[in-house]
Amino acid sequence: MSGTSLDGIDAVLVGFPDDQTRLLATCYQAYGKDLREALLALHQPAYDELRQTQFIGNELAKRYSQATVSLLQKAGVVPGQVCAIGCHGQTIRHCPDQGYTLQLGNAALLAELSGIAVVSDFRSRDIAAGGQGAPLVPAFHDKVLRHPAIHRVAVNIGGISNLTNLSPECPVSGFDCGPGNMLMDAWISMHCGEPYDRDGAWAASGKVIPALLQRFLEEPFLHAPPPKSSGRDLFSLAWLKGRLRGDEAPVDVQATLLELSCRAISDAIQCFCKGATEIYLCGGGAHNQALVQKLGAFLPECNIQTTEVLGMGVDWLEAIAFAWLAQQRLYNRELNLVTVTGARHSCILGAIYPA
Ligand SMILES: Nc1ncnc2c1ncn2[C@@H]1O[C@H](COP(=O)(O)OP(=O)(O)O)[C@@H](O)[C@H]1O
Ligand SMILES: [Mg+2]
Repeated sequence: MSGTSLDGIDAVLVGFPDDQTRLLATCYQAYGKDLREALLALHQPAYDELRQTQFIGNELAKRYSQATVSLLQKAGVVPGQVCAIGCHGQTIRHCPDQGYTLQLGNAALLAELSGIAVVSDFRSRDIAAGGQGAPLVPAFHDKVLRHPAIHRVAVNIGGISNLTNLSPECPVSGFDCGPGNMLMDAWISMHCGEPYDRDGAWAASGKVIPALLQRFLEEPFLHAPPPKSSGRDLFSLAWLKGRLRGDEAPVDVQATLLELSCRAISDAIQCFCKGATEIYLCGGGAHNQALVQKLGAFLPECNIQTTEVLGMGVDWLEAIAFAWLAQQRLYNRELNLVTVTGARHSCILGAIYPA
C-alpha cells in the first residue's frame, strides 16, 4: 500500500488460514524526497507528463519489488510461496465524478521483477459501475472490526481521512471525511523542511485562527452527503494558500489545519454515524497525539482507541486490507460496496497480472 501521504510503501505478508487474517511480516520503505517530489509534480498537468507518468510508474514497480524482496527476506519466504501481491499503486488523479481514477505502478513490471502474480487497479471497476471507487477498506473493516451489538466507527487517518460506519443494525457504510495528514504535512514541509509534524507538536504550540478555520470549514466537500471521496485533486497546497490572508503565523496555520482535520472527522461522525460509542483509529495520523487528544475532546460521547487494541496495528491495517482485496479478486468474489461507494451493484475489483 502506498497512500496519498506519499510517505512510502507499507508492505505486509498476510495469510488467510480458514478465512482468518494472519499478519506474518511487515516492512516499510520510505520514498525519499526525490520520488515524493516527482509524484507531487505529477498531480498537476505538466509538459511531457505522459512520458514522466510511465517513467515514474516503472520506478514505483521497482520500489514495490524491492519492498517485496525485503519483506520476504524478513519472513524467510520465497516468491513461489506467495499467491499474489495486492498492489494499490500510487494515486495521482482521483476524479470519480469525471469517470476515472489513476494509480501509478507498472503492475506487469512488478509481476516480472518479483515473479509473483499482481492484483492492481482496484478502483476502476467500482467507478465504471457508478461508484466513487473509494474508500474500499470499509469492506475489510466490516469483516474484521464489526461487533454484533456495539456501534463502532473505524477512522483511517492517512493523507485523506476516511471512516467506516459499523452499526449493528445496518450494512457497512463509509466515506472520505476530508483532509487527514496531507495539508499538515505540506505546511510543515514548506516551513520547517520536515516531512510531518511529529506527534502534532508544532500544531499544539500554535493557536487556532477562528476566521481561517471558518474559511476551511466552508469547503462544500465537508458538508456533502456520502457517497464521497477525495484526494490531492481537491485538498492541495493551492487549496490551503487560497484561503490564507497572508499575515498568519505559520505555527497558527498548522494549529488550524490540525483543528480542520479533527473537525472533518468529528463532524462526519456526529452527522452520519449517530449513536456510535466506539471509535477505532488507524493510519499514520493515529500517531499524532495532539490530533487524537483533540478528537477525544470533540467526541466526548465516544470511547476513542486505536485498532491496536483489536490486534490490528495502525500502520498496517490498510495494507492488510489490500492483501484481502487481492484475495477476493483471485477468488472472483464480488464486493458489495453499494452502501459505501454508491456503485450500482456489487463488483469484482482489480486486474490480475499473472506471475
Ligand atoms: N508520530 C507521528 N506524528 C504525527 N504524524 C504522523 C506520525 N507518524 C506518521 N504520521 C503521519 O502519517 C502519515 C502517513 O500515514 P499513512 O497512513 O501512511 O497515510 P497514507 O495512507 O496517506 O500514505 C505521515 O505522512 C504523517 O503525516
Ligand atoms: Mg503511507
